[in-house]
Amino acid sequence: MQRTFKVYRGEGKSHRYQDFKVEVPPGWTVLDALNEIKWNQDGTLTYRRSCRHGICGSCAMKINGINALACEKQIKDLKGGTIHVDPLPGFKVLRDLAVDMDPFFELLEEVKPYLINDSAPPDKERIQSEEEFSHISSAINCILCSACTSSCPSYWTDKNYLGPAALLKAYRFLFDTRDKGGPERIDAINNRHGLWRCHTIINCVGACPENLAPTEAVSKLEKWGIFQKD
Ligand code: FES
Repeated sequence: MQRTFKVYRGEGKSHRYQDFKVEVPPGWTVLDALNEIKWNQDGTLTYRRSCRHGICGSCAMKINGINALACEKQIKDLKGGTIHVDPLPGFKVLRDLAVDMDPFFELLEEVKPYLINDSAPPDKERIQSEEEFSHISSAINCILCSACTSSCPSYWTDKNYLGPAALLKAYRFLFDTRDKGGPERIDAINNRHGLWRCHTIINCVGACPENLAPTEAVSKLEKWGIFQKD
C-alpha cells in the first residue's frame, strides 16, 4: 500500500514540509519508510537511528503528533492518509529530524546518573535482594531517548527543568540500596528546576516507549518525606 509521509525539512523559521510517497510492505515501521526515502528518493534527509530494535533510543521523533521511536512505530497502526513526521519538540532542530541532544544530556549529568559508592567492593558483587531490586526494576529500563522530556510542557517553558528522564534516573539511584550518593542527588533535584517543577501533566508516561512512569517516580520522591518544597 502506498502512504504519504509529510516530513519536516530544514530548521527554524526556514523549515518547510516535504511530501514523500512510499510503497509500504506489510510489517514496515516509520524508520523503514524514512530509510526508503533516504536511500532511494532524497539522500539529504537527516535523522538519527542505530539499533533498529528500540534499544539505543536514537530514533525518537514526533509521529502524527505523538513522540515515539520510529523503529517501533508500525505504519499499519497509523490511521488516516498522510503520516506527519516532525523532530522532537522542545529541542533545537539541527536539521530535518535531528535535534540537539546536548541540553538533555547536560540535565541528566546534574543528577549524577551512575552508581556512587566509595566503600571497598565485596569479593564478587554488591548484592541486592529481590525485594530491594523491585523498587528500581522498572526505572532501570530507560533508554534515554528523551521522548518523555521532549513531550513535557514544563520543560518547554523552563529549559533548566531537569525533566522526567533525569528525575527518573535520580529516583533509580536514590532507591538503589547499593548507592551512597543520596545527599548529592537530593541537592540536585530539590529545587524549583527539579522535583517541584513537575505538574503531573503526565505527557511523559504516554510518550515513553518503554512504558515507564516517570510521574510515579516523582510522586514517590515527593512523598518520601525528606524534601522541603522550594
Ligand atoms: S534505532 Fe535504536 S531505538 Fe530506534
